[in-house]
Amino acid sequence: MSPTIQTRRPGFVAEVTGIDLARDLDDQAAEAIADAIDHHGVVVVRDQRLSNEEQLAFADRFGPIETSVTRVRADYRQRIGLPQIVDVSNLDENGRPREMADRLRMLLLGNRLWHTDSSFRALNGALSMLLARSIPSEGGETEFSDNRAAFAALPAATRERIDGLRAEHSLMHSRSQLGFSDFSEEERRALPPVEHPLVRRSPDGRPALYIGSHASHVVGWPVPEGRMLLRDLLEHTTQPEFVYAHEWRVGDLVIWDNRCTLHRGRAYDESQPRDLRRVTTSDTTSLSVRDGLVERRETRRAEARSPALAAGI
Ligand SMILES: [Fe+2]
Repeated sequence: MSPTIQTRRPGFVAEVTGIDLARDLDDQAAEAIADAIDHHGVVVVRDQRLSNEEQLAFADRFGPIETSVTRVRADYRQRIGLPQIVDVSNLDENGRPREMADRLRMLLLGNRLWHTDSSFRALNGALSMLLARSIPSEGGETEFSDNRAAFAALPAATRERIDGLRAEHSLMHSRSQLGFSDFSEEERRALPPVEHPLVRRSPDGRPALYIGSHASHVVGWPVPEGRMLLRDLLEHTTQPEFVYAHEWRVGDLVIWDNRCTLHRGRAYDESQPRDLRRVTTSDTTSLSVRDGLVERRETRRAEARSPALAAGI
């Protein structure tokens, strides 16, 4: 079944309707969605009612799935038993809103800073897929920035100056900005700082800023100098002209490419449940958006060129 794909913001946001990802997703539809992600960076798939397992099965088509960072500590009590499902909700293991000072809530509060998922890992996040199961009556939007358009809009001298630089990323750095720093030795050992390029190229060659709250400083530069640059770039890429605010509907599955966008969650009345669940693939190639899919696609292209190969001869 082929889905309907409509552009909402050219080169940035597309909307997909007319498909049930749990039942109708053949290879052709998966490729169409993968192309939309490549081109836009943010793709909203409407009206999905996926179980945890179905959400994982969909994500698995696009690459290896990472384990949630909330599993680094064994003592967090969580309501979802699957370590690859990130519980982006305000609910505790009994399905009730977490207390204000709950440690896991404090950790997840960092999601309200502009960031890109898992840039604090050597194997950074590639695609994130966030499904809305229940939403509050107002607030709780997720905002995205278009880091390819933002890079292209920088002065040429700045583009030249920053291309080739590397930044150090760490979860401890992003959380310390909110005054959350009581990480255990176990957590610090499990999540050491990592380096990533400040500018990454998408599969189509378009460069994008790769920054966000986990980015601490520029490697090889005095720390304050690098932090000023990172702040300036963050201010630039989060200007309204580069930002899309997604107002959630139940059943939305929003997919974004972490290598060319930033995002942040917005505040809401946390006495109401907001049940969103995320699955994120790992960027194993640093360039390819969809390892498994690319591989299958290349195989099919080879088969198309060689009928004998297709027939298994
Ligand atoms: Fe996130």
